[in-house]
Amino acid sequence: MSNTFGQKFRFTTWGESHGPAIGVVVDGCPAGIPLEEADLQCDLDRRRPGQSKITTQRGETDCAEILSGVFEGYTTGAPISILIRNKDADSSKYDNLRNVFRPGHADFTYWAKWGRRDHRGGGRASARETASRVAAGAVARKFLSDRGVNIQGFVSQVADIAWDGENFDLDEIERNSCRCPDAETAKKMENAILEARKEGDSLGGIISIIAVGAPPGLGEPIYGRLDAELAAAIMGINAVKGVEIGAGFRAATMKGSEHNDAFDLVDGKIVPRTNNAGGILGGISTGAPIVLTFVVKPTSSIPKEQDTVNVSGEKTMVLVEGRHDPCVATRAVPIGEAMVALVLVDHWLRGLGSRADLKD
Ligand SMILES: Cc1cc2nc3c(=O)[nH]c(=O)nc-3n(C[C@H](O)[C@H](O)[C@H](O)COP(=O)(O)O)c2cc1C
Repeated sequence: MSNTFGQKFRFTTWGESHGPAIGVVVDGCPAGIPLEEADLQCDLDRRRPGQSKITTQRGETDCAEILSGVFEGYTTGAPISILIRNKDADSSKYDNLRNVFRPGHADFTYWAKWGRRDHRGGGRASARETASRVAAGAVARKFLSDRGVNIQGFVSQVADIAWDGENFDLDEIERNSCRCPDAETAKKMENAILEARKEGDSLGGIISIIAVGAPPGLGEPIYGRLDAELAAAIMGINAVKGVEIGAGFRAATMKGSEHNDAFDLVDGKIVPRTNNAGGILGGISTGAPIVLTFVVKPTSSIPKEQDTVNVSGEKTMVLVEGRHDPCVATRAVPIGEAMVALVLVDHWLRGLGSRADLKD
């Protein structure tokens, strides 16, 4: 299994959904960052289950404990170990899934690859693992916010209900259960999610992430392009089925004269006037906001009878009970933000020393 991400700023996650705890070790973090458990909690609370009526009702508080790497309130440069205890796992609801593969989940592929799997709550394939990344991401965000980089995500679409791209109220994002920047659209999204759940079904969605303040120069072409590594980081989130950078797939319908971001001079700095490139050219940040969107599929675990096959190779039916998110998009927002932060910090540290002529 591959459980480590990053080169200079690396993190390794561990733990299963219904084990005693999950956690992460962050290695390569510079010394001298002020860090306490409360710094991690804000993003963990935005990700945790049970936060609203449209998420799974598993009741985890997701309290992070820092076990190492911080002394007298500052990171020391040593590995930072973070522990999150699982307190509300109910494995009984998974008994009927021990030998049956849920359509759309990782049950079959984990079994095909390792010949055994922890079926309780999806085990290692559960998005419970993403709490560990969010904790690591919170450390990365401390590094970035000290350098004027701010990362904001929001839900821009649920099923066919799309944010219009104009009514943007930053404060609204965390005020509504859908994390949509427009209250009216958020209400429609919420109703659609509740309706789907009532029907025993689930919905997909699209999340947008914007990172403002990253300097030009982050990214390591040829094989460590910033856009490629952001895409890999985001595709590594459970249920993600596609990533677009900047104008993304809309580029196919644009002409070069439309898609090109003309350069301008603002206060002596070279800046693109528009941002169809999403802040990245040639795999390197331009200094413009880094903009990406990603799509999450509808949750696979639904209480509807579906055809499947069991481990003995017999055709059967499965109906998935238990506590599941009817739409994972809203909880994916802090996870996407965390992955973007982790990639940016890694590149920040990797990028040092690319020019012999610059001494600072
Ligand atoms: C925040 C979040 C919460 C999720 N919650 C559930 C859930 O309650 N039930 C479920 O079946 N899948 C859930 N998923 C998706 C599964 O983890 C994912 O579909 C599964 O691991 C298979 O991986 P894949 O969809 O990337 O192929 C969630 C994903 C995210 C990002």
